[in-house]
Order: sequence, then structure tokens, then C-alpha cells
Amino acid sequence: MCGIIGYTGKDEAAGIMLDALELLEYRGYDSAGIALLSEGEIQILKTAGRVGDLRRLCSGEKPEGRCGIGHTRWATHGGVCGANAHPHRFGRVTLIHNGIIENYKELKEKYGLDGLLQSETDSEVVAAVLEHFYSGDPYSAIRRTVLKLKGTFALAVLFDDQPDCIFAVRNVSPIVAAVTDNGAFLASDVAAIAPYTADYFVVPEFHVVCLGPGNAELFDLSGDRAVIDWLSVDWDVSRSGKEGYPFYMEKEIMEQPEVIGETIFPRIKEGKPDFSEEGIPDEILSACQRICVIACGTAMHAGLVGKSLIQAIIGIHVDVVMASEFMYNDPVVDKDTLVIAISQSGETIDTLEALKFARKCGSPCISIVNVKGASIARASEYVIYTNAGPEIAVASTKAYTTQLAVLYLLTARMAMARKLWSEQELAGYMCELQRVPAVLKQVLETKEEIHRLAGSILNASDVFMIGRGLDYSILLEGSLKLKEVSYIHSEAYASGELKHGTIALITEDTPVIAVVTQEKLKSKELSNIREVQSRGARVVLLIKEGETLDGGEQWSCVYRLPKMDDFFMVMPASIVLQLIAYFVSLDKGLDVDKPRNLAKVVTVE
Ligand code: G6P
Repeated sequence: MCGIIGYTGKDEAAGIMLDALELLEYRGYDSAGIALLSEGEIQILKTAGRVGDLRRLCSGEKPEGRCGIGHTRWATHGGVCGANAHPHRFGRVTLIHNGIIENYKELKEKYGLDGLLQSETDSEVVAAVLEHFYSGDPYSAIRRTVLKLKGTFALAVLFDDQPDCIFAVRNVSPIVAAVTDNGAFLASDVAAIAPYTADYFVVPEFHVVCLGPGNAELFDLSGDRAVIDWLSVDWDVSRSGKEGYPFYMEKEIMEQPEVIGETIFPRIKEGKPDFSEEGIPDEILSACQRICVIACGTAMHAGLVGKSLIQAIIGIHVDVVMASEFMYNDPVVDKDTLVIAISQSGETIDTLEALKFARKCGSPCISIVNVKGASIARASEYVIYTNAGPEIAVASTKAYTTQLAVLYLLTARMAMARKLWSEQELAGYMCELQRVPAVLKQVLETKEEIHRLAGSILNASDVFMIGRGLDYSILLEGSLKLKEVSYIHSEAYASGELKHGTIALITEDTPVIAVVTQEKLKSKELSNIREVQSRGARVVLLIKEGETLDGGEQWSCVYRLPKMDDFFMVMPASIVLQLIAYFVSLDKGLDVDKPRNLAKVVTVE
């Protein structure tokens, strides 16, 4: 949430920062701004709108300087307008901020700031407090300010009289830093600096980093030098471009066979699921009496599929809890509860806080994360990385299916650890899992057929999605995808539940997407579909190839999914739902990768 960049070095900073902000724009795109420090002078350029608008502003103003900070905002505090855009300046301090300062009102009163601020933001208050404490020693001012702050923050700061230096400090909200021959960088995540270097470090919480033109120094809050723990970006940076696709979302959908392969194949040894690289002992998989999955959004939907798999195969109880609700429902987790945190970014604050709580309760914790070295990965006892590579489109696609792939593997390892399967049963399951990439490729080859299906809901104002069991779980994700990228109101409903009220909303104009992939539920699901067809609904049906359908002309929109074992049918069906959402958004002419009001990384509660 909000993207931060800083650069100090031999090159002009503005161009570098604008390029980086474009890569960070998925974190928020309400407004953007940069500040340059050159010969004791600060120049700030900022505007409501996107980084493209800021670039246009800069091409007129031609800002100069080799040291600067930049920001792309997802508004939390104060409306979307130029005055609330970052950077903020107060006295000798120029600052950008990601996060929320909960006690900004108290600070405003305490330091007598009423009438002195230019914006409605909590961030400007921090700039003012820093100015209050600044008497030439940046470390002391930062330390004294940070001790006054309640909330989450990643702050990047310029002081007028500290030439070429950028200071940064954080609590919860992420900051990474890197040094190259041409200069030093800081950013909200490695995507922004990966074009310049593969080596970076995560700034630890409550540590101050000072970047100079060719160096980075790290101190704890008491002023003692701290050791930098260097990491390496281990994903393919070339994957960061659109590679000829009009939008990242399409590119990322198309990448799924490959990245699912990269997620599962290295974890299959002699035909068996293997988490020895991750150091996950079988005991934690065999000893737990229940499982609690914590996650948000799409990651939570992956958890729901995991729940169905684990309950069916392992026979233990699984709760899937929205991380944002976890802390407020008196969570019951203990040493016998295996907690699985799922997160693409590894930075979602609700998931992180829930995970920390579970660890305090003594629960063994595994996190499934895409971004290497992210906060959730670091806070977790064991981490399984999805190898999806950078996911840039705000709507998550390949992260979701790679999360599913990990859950399939984990379920199999759990079945092995508990000696639930014969060698033959294990081999059959693993063989089916390894078919997934090829089956998905087959679905992706029918992209134009799916485009035509999408046409049938293009002009709808409401869409219902119905199914049962695993089908219902993936429809929750399919419906979220459609809502977020097309702005069509959509609801996923357990098809048996529809008749208890919501069927009142089904009319002749309501398209209904139905998914039928589970043999044991087929006849019930088809009856529920008939119930909506009798009310005039137009049904788009996704069903396994080879299934017969009675009722002739009622089935004008049918997509035949390649056959897999029922447990695995969610994979091909999910891809079709992703493509339907994508094509509706594309055909409506929307900004597919950056839907309104959203941000990819949510670091506020
Ligand atoms: C945001 C994103 C969603 C994502 C959710 C959880 O809302 O827009 O796509 O599913 O956060 O993110 P995480 O990084 O924890 O998976």
C-alpha cells in the first residue's frame, strides 16, 4: 500500500524514480510525487493522478538533482488531491510515508500544529514532529520521533542540510535497500530496484538506514551500528515486462502452466511430495489436530480450496479465517493447531498480525508466500515459497493457482506423514498433480472461445455464480475477480443455498455462471441450475468434458473443461473464470491492471 522509492548517486534521480514508481504503482495510484535535494535546495513535484501524470509534469519542469525520494499513494488519510500527495515538507524536513499514524491527532495537539499544516494527512504531522526534534542530528531526530509514533510506517526522509543522504525507518510497512556502483536505492519492494541490482536487504523494523551515493549504513534506534543481512532476488527479472500482452493480467494468466510447474516439480522427489528444502518436519503435519488457515482476499479463497482437500483427504477439521477478523473473534489456536498463513505479497498486515498472535499461542506455523524475504515469511516458523515470480496486475491470478499447487502438495505430504495412503494412491494423486501444467495449457489454447463466453455477461449489471463444495470455493474467487476488474456486481452462492432468499434476485436478465466438476455433487448442482433456468436466467456452464446434458437449447453457453480427477478440476475451472473476468474488463475498455480503489499490497488494517 503506497509505493516508496529513494535514489542517491551519480545519475539524475528524477528519471530513475519515475521508472521505479511505475513498477510500484500496483501498490496504489491515487497520486504521485517526487522530491529532489540538490545543493541544499528541495524541489517537490506532485499531483493527484497516476505516475504518468507526474511524468508529464516532470517533462515540463525538468527537475534536477542526484538525490531524491518518490511516492505513489493509496489514500488512507485525507482525500485524493494534490495537497495530500506526498512528499510533504515541514521546515527542513521532506518526507514520504507508507502506513497509518494512529495517534496523529494527539501529536498535532501536543506540538501545536493546528493551522500550520498544508494537507489533511497523518504523514505531514510526522514531518512536523521530525522538524521539531531536528537540531542537525538526523538519527536523534528520527529516534525521538519514532518513539512518539503509534501505528505503522515506512518513512523516507530528506533533511535540507544533509546533502546526498536519504534516511529511512520503518515499523511493519516494508522497505528494502540496495547499493550499486552508480548509487544507493530504497524501495517498498524489490520489483522497483531489480532492474539495477539483484542484491538487496530488508531494512529491519525500528532500524534507521542512511543511504549515501555509494553506500548504505544501518543503525538500531540506540545508534549502534547493525549488521546488514544481504539477500538476492531469485526471480527472473525479465518476467517483469508485459512481453507483448496488452495487460499484465493476461500475461500472468498465460504464465500459469509454467509457474505452477516451477512451484511443484522441485518439490517432488522420487514421485513423492518433499518439503525437506523448507525444513518442514513430518511431525508437525502428523501431530496437529486441526488446521487454521489465515489469509485475505484471493489468498483466503485458496485456503478454502485447501480446506475442502484437507478435510476430504486427511479428515481433520480446517478453519479458514479472514485475517482481518481473526484477532477480533477471540481466536482459539494452540500447540495442536497447525496455522497456515497464505499471502502473495507476504506483507498484508492483517495476516501478519494474526500469524504473530498464533505463534505467541504456541501454534506451529507454515506460511505460503510469493515474495521472497517478505515480512510474513520472516515471521513464520516455516515458509513455502510459491514460484509465481513477480505478480504485477492488482488482480491476483498466478499467485492464486500456485498457492493451490502448494496446498495440493502439502495435503499429499500430510497424507504420507499420517500413513493414510497406499503407495498406489499416492502415486495416482501425484501423477494427476503433475498433469496440471499441461491441462492448463490446453485450456489457455481455447482463450478465444472463453472470450466469446465472456461476451454473454459483458452488459450485465449483476452476475451470480453458483456451485457446491469445491466448485463453490473457486466461484468465490471467480466472482471476486469479476467484481474487481469489471466493476460488475457479482455474487458467488452455494447453489443449494440460493433458494433460501437470494433466488428472488434472479430474473430473465441475470446471467448465472455455474460450475459443475464434482461427480458426487453433479445431480444436485444440475437441479439447482434448472431452478434458475426456470426463472429465466441465462446460464453459462463450465462442466467436465464428456458429461451429458438434458434439456437441449437451454445450454447455449457451455464450456467443456478437460477431464482431471475431481480434486484437481478446480485448476482448469479457475483459469476459465480468470479469463472471463479479464475479457469482460478488456472489452469494457477498463484499466485491467489497475482497478479503481484497489492496491495490491495492503499494509494497513
Ligand atoms: C489485496 C489484493 C488482493 C489480495 C489481498 C491479499 O486486497 O488486491 O489481490 O488477494 O490483498 O494479499 P496477499 O498479498 O496477502 O495475498
